[in-house]
This record gives sequence, C-alpha cells and structure tokens, in this order.
Amino acid sequence: MSPALVFFTLLLAFSRADALYGHGFARCQFSFPDGHDAVYLEQYYFNKRLVALYNGTLGKMIGYTKETIKYANIYNNNPAFVNWGKRKTELCKRNTPLAYNALLKSVEPSVRLRSVEAVDSRHPGMLVCSAYNFYPQQIRLTWLRNGQEETSDVMSTDELPNGNWLYQIHSFLEFTPRPGEKITCMVEHASLMEPKLYDWEPTADSGTNNIVVGTAGLLLGLVFSVAGLLYYKKKSSERVLVPTTEVFYPEHTL
Ligand SMILES: *[C@@H]1O[C@H](CO)[C@@H](O)[C@H](O)[C@H]1NC(C)=O
Repeated sequence: MSPALVFFTLLLAFSRADALYGHGFARCQFSFPDGHDAVYLEQYYFNKRLVALYNGTLGKMIGYTKETIKYANIYNNNPAFVNWGKRKTELCKRNTPLAYNALLKSVEPSVRLRSVEAVDSRHPGMLVCSAYNFYPQQIRLTWLRNGQEETSDVMSTDELPNGNWLYQIHSFLEFTPRPGEKITCMVEHASLMEPKLYDWEPTADSGTNNIVVGTAGLLLGLVFSVAGLLYYKKKSSERVLVPTTEVFYPEHTL
C-alpha cells in the first residue's frame, strides 16, 4: 500500500491574544508519485470547529454552519470559483511528482550497534541494532553469526514513526558471547545499493572501565574529605586559642 501523503500549507489568523482563532489548511493529497489520484482540499476551521471544506473530488465547497452553507452555495454557483477549484486540482496533480522527488527521496538510516544488559534471560548478553531516521518505512535488519543468519533469540520492534516522515527500528539479539565469533547486523533498505554490514566489536571490558571510574571517584572523595578535615582541625585549634576577654594571636598567624 502506498502511503497517503499530504502536502499542505497552513494559514493562521489571530484576532486577539485571548480570543478567537481561525485557521485553514490547503492540502494536496496523493498516494502515487505520478499524482493520478491527487486531490486538492481546503479546510477552514474557526475555534477548532470545521466550518467549511473545499473538496476537489467533488469540485465543491461544503458548508457546515448556517452561514458557511449560504456562502458555499454562492461560491458553487460562481463559474470563476468553480474554475479556480479546477486549476488548483490540476496544479496539485502536476506538482505531485515534483513534491515526491524533492521531499520523498529515500533517506539512509544511521545505524548503531551496542550491547545492553539482558534482563531476565537465559543469555548473559544482548545486542541492540538500531536504525534511525530512515525513509521509506520498509527496512530489514538481520543478525549474522559468522556470516550465517541468526533467527533464534531475535526480537524486533516495528518501524516506529518519528513524526517527521522518518522512522526508527530496534532489533535485539540475545546471545552468549563465544571467543572468535563474529556478530553482524545487516541492514537492507531502499536507500542502500547493497546490504550494509555492521560488525559487533566488543569494546574494552566495560567492567574494567567501571572499576577505573569508581576508583577515581573514590580517590577524589577521599582527597576532599582529608582536606576538609585538615581545614576543620586548623580552624577549631585557632578558635580554642582565642581567650574570651583579650584578643590573642597565635604565633603562627603573625
Ligand atoms: C471528498 O469527496 C470524496 C467523494 O465524495 C470523498 O470520498 C472524500 O472523503 C471527500 N474528502 C473529504 C476530506 O471530505
């Protein structure tokens, strides 16, 4: 199924900051690159309520309130308006291939392969292959173990829409790492001339990294505690040396 695509301009009209709000959409809606099914639509809203619609398929304005029904009638009986609608519909059909080529080129995914801790699983390791910001939606992520497709212990999300015509997907592989083994995430997508391979390279043991970071933090904490303690000792010894009635400067401060 082709995606229903909407190509629109937005018009905004404000009266006062706190008050009435009217807006309208002009849309060129199509499902095929050649534009043979393109439809021109205009929708007018007042305070969120749809009050009138121009439907290019019908070639008519339709009113939804007493007032707009009246105006729709006047417009629909005006040949100039009817022609205007036809011109807009033709423009919409003619521009569809342009819009399609300019806006809807396939976009290559950016792929990230990483390991996460497997929660509640038989395997100690889990790899995640994530593809971000691709278009169109259709994509295939495959796991390879030493070049052989791996289908067990694989899970995948759907292609999740980002809301900006781009999609993301995440595929999970639960596995038990074995030495000398090569794990690959293979990505197939319309934007790629051939499948793209991403090899898993286990980074320096992250456990060791954690120990290094932890030790550094501990040492830093220790330095501050000792410095604080020395400072406190010094202050409190000065205080003790000051008698209540006369001011006395201990030798070492002079
Ligand atoms: C426009 O009219 C066609 C034909 O009646 C209809 O199928 C379509 O849903 C209408 N579009 C809108 C947005 O009302």
